Amino acid sequence: MWKVQLFKLNYDDKESRAVRDVIDSGWITMGDKTKEFENKFSNLLGGKSIYSTAVSSGTASLHMALLGLGIGSGDEVIIPALTFVANINVVKIVGATPVLADCSNYNNWNVSAETIKAQITPKTKAVIVVHFAGYPCEMDKIVTLCKRRGLYLIEDVAHAPDAKYKGKACGTFGDYGCFSFFTNKNLSVGEGGMLITKNKQLAIRAKEFRSHGMSALTLDRHRGRAISYDVSNVGLNYRIDEMRSALGLVQLDKLRDANRKRAYLVDRYIKKLSPLKDISIPFQNLKNIKPVYHIFPILLSNSIDRVWLINRLKEFGIQSSIHYPIFKEFSAFKDLNLNSAPIAEDIAKRELTLPLYPTMNFSDIDFICDSLFKILKREVV
Ligand SMILES: Cc1ncc(COP(=O)(O)O)c(C=O)c1O
Repeated sequence: MWKVQLFKLNYDDKESRAVRDVIDSGWITMGDKTKEFENKFSNLLGGKSIYSTAVSSGTASLHMALLGLGIGSGDEVIIPALTFVANINVVKIVGATPVLADCSNYNNWNVSAETIKAQITPKTKAVIVVHFAGYPCEMDKIVTLCKRRGLYLIEDVAHAPDAKYKGKACGTFGDYGCFSFFTNKNLSVGEGGMLITKNKQLAIRAKEFRSHGMSALTLDRHRGRAISYDVSNVGLNYRIDEMRSALGLVQLDKLRDANRKRAYLVDRYIKKLSPLKDISIPFQNLKNIKPVYHIFPILLSNSIDRVWLINRLKEFGIQSSIHYPIFKEFSAFKDLNLNSAPIAEDIAKRELTLPLYPTMNFSDIDFICDSLFKILKREVV
């Protein structure tokens, strides 16, 4: 249906073979492949003293992070105003109160130490930051603020596997890093996630929590390493399976190359679209960061009707999307009395996401950009 769709899997025979090998091995629930995936993921983030726990989704990792820090009723958690609904959902699910931090400015859509600070109250217990679109937040200032004010820090790294701030991997700055491996992510397994911590005790607890709080796995009993198990704390079933971990290992091998390709494609987009005055491209000329270009968001000028543009792009065979609708627009949060965040609310009205995936060609980018020029009746350059 689409000439250029928003996202395409970066899959080939390697993924098919990896899944087939797991099935042929006769062991499909969490086991050795998952351990290997966790170890290699820790290595990606810098190795030593980084503990990775593979889970069933990014949302599961966020939920576990809040529970692991003991956050609940009476606590406030600061989250970005411009982010995916999973962030507000997990805060609500543990019984805490979400408070919104605005974007830094119209170029840097991430939260900043200043926009977080403006929302701190005596009830604030934790901050969740999101490295939006794969562009790292200014972590040194945020870490300093959280330390000074005694706040827990959770990084939502769903958009940013292998992104770096001042040479250090995103996900390793706070108490927990939460990754998503959902279909459209830079590292894609269908459904999956990873919870990262540098605290060994939190990691042991996370591994038990992921599997009903049990002290031994089905695999341990299968291998004769355990006969029974204890449950010292409650838990849920947030396990990943071996098929997805095998996919994760293949995707991990491809990640750096794929992220490099994303960078070339974004560079092409920027060169082609810069003369188009009706749009602006965020996250330009930011210092100290190595982004991983998860999505390509643009900001439309006030004079452009976004729904009209989405439909016109559709006529050209180009899929586009919106990241993200503001929380207040969702029925579930209408009565929450959420604080306002003027920049995020304005961006949310005018944002448009254009296709981006590592197997795209320059000719796809040129086609999208030329179509945009034609639709907006500007001269193609
Ligand atoms: C910023 C952000 N946080 C969290 C999530 C949730 O991840 P998952 O879909 O794996 O639960 C997503 C996924 O779309 C996301 O984009």
